[in-house]
Amino acid sequence: MQNYSKQELLEIKSELVAKYNRYKSLGLSLDMSRGNPSKEQLDISTPMLSVLKTAEDCIDETGFDCRNYGVLDGIPEAKKLFSELMNTSSVDEIIIGGNSSLNMMYDNIVRAMIFGVYGGEKPWSSCENIKFLCPVPGYDRHFRICETLGIEMISVPLLADGPDMDMVEKLVAEDETIKGIWCVPKYSNPTGITYSSETVRRFAMLRPKAKDFRVFWDNAYSLHDISGRSDILLNVLEEAKKYGNGDMIYKFMSTSKVSFPGAGVAAMAASKNNIDFIKKLMGVQTIGYDKLNQLRHVRYFKDAEGVRRQMQRHAEIIKPKFAIVLYILEKEISDIATWSNPNGGYFISLTVPDGCAKRVVTLMKEAGVKMTPSGATFPYGVDPKDNNIRIAPTHPPVAELQTAAEILCVCVRMAAVEKALSEK
Ligand SMILES: Cc1ncc(COP(=O)(O)O)c(C=O)c1O
Repeated sequence: MQNYSKQELLEIKSELVAKYNRYKSLGLSLDMSRGNPSKEQLDISTPMLSVLKTAEDCIDETGFDCRNYGVLDGIPEAKKLFSELMNTSSVDEIIIGGNSSLNMMYDNIVRAMIFGVYGGEKPWSSCENIKFLCPVPGYDRHFRICETLGIEMISVPLLADGPDMDMVEKLVAEDETIKGIWCVPKYSNPTGITYSSETVRRFAMLRPKAKDFRVFWDNAYSLHDISGRSDILLNVLEEAKKYGNGDMIYKFMSTSKVSFPGAGVAAMAASKNNIDFIKKLMGVQTIGYDKLNQLRHVRYFKDAEGVRRQMQRHAEIIKPKFAIVLYILEKEISDIATWSNPNGGYFISLTVPDGCAKRVVTLMKEAGVKMTPSGATFPYGVDPKDNNIRIAPTHPPVAELQTAAEILCVCVRMAAVEKALSEK
């Protein structure tokens, strides 16, 4: 854009404004903000709702009646299934939770604040100011947990192979008040990258100054291939055990984007020390989670292979949606923007010229297309370069996505031209 004269930029701008106004006059109401499965995806799992029909159907493999109270950490068949999905060495390293892994993460942090963690001498909150490392861009709800609980967030750049590990190693080794780090290690939200084996090993070998430091390994997209090429992620818990660090890792996942968001099953995996410690405190919070839903999931999927077959069906629905957005971005704005082209997950991360993201999202809103608020992928909602936009292509139908992506490209170009003009 710098090569254009002011007059040329004004001409380009007036053409773009005319195009933009044509879209605006259509009175559209489109949404590329929600990382939700589409109706078609939800329909795949609907037969699961009718697998429990009789009282006999509600008896688990030990003979326990799942309609009743009890079984704090999950029915054995659910622990077996999640143990396979999370690659744990034993079912003793699993807790089956409720419908939300985010809820499990929140609970773990709050418990750590109030009671401390296994092996820790004091509650986290006995430090005046505790901190978490936050790879950026990242998942806004992780950051909201920290902000709400008064945990200071330190941004760490998320590179193509994971967080900047030089920075992570240095910071955790020096500062005892750093108690945790957020990680979305596979098909990360929003950039779609997967941590390399070297990154995972460096996590496994961390030597934090805080003995009660925990890695929050949120493997929300562990099963979510799109392209047919699956990224490989090393098992961080097993690696960490090799270096005497097994107690440092908390792993999480859920079936929110496998079966039903908000009505799936969540699980955490950790060392037996951690699991036993957490179960004692969890037993005060609840008598047990929804075992009927655990049964429904196990009976419907049968085993990990059943889950993987289901994920292939999701991929078939999602793949054309990613493809159309990527195609339009390439055709329209490859000269001024870059974006991720992930092998899986739920998002495309778009990098627009610095200082333009907020403006693009505003222009989109005015044209009737809702986007994730700019800045949401950074702690405190502040994107320091104002250049990251998260695109969530899974929910809208392909035709709507095509229109939304075309408008997005017009808005990116408009914002870039406006910025270039302001610098003339
Ligand atoms: C990285 C990540 N973790 C967790 C969640 C929420 O998971 P759950 O539905 O299990 O609470 C999401 C949802 O978008 C996510 O992107």
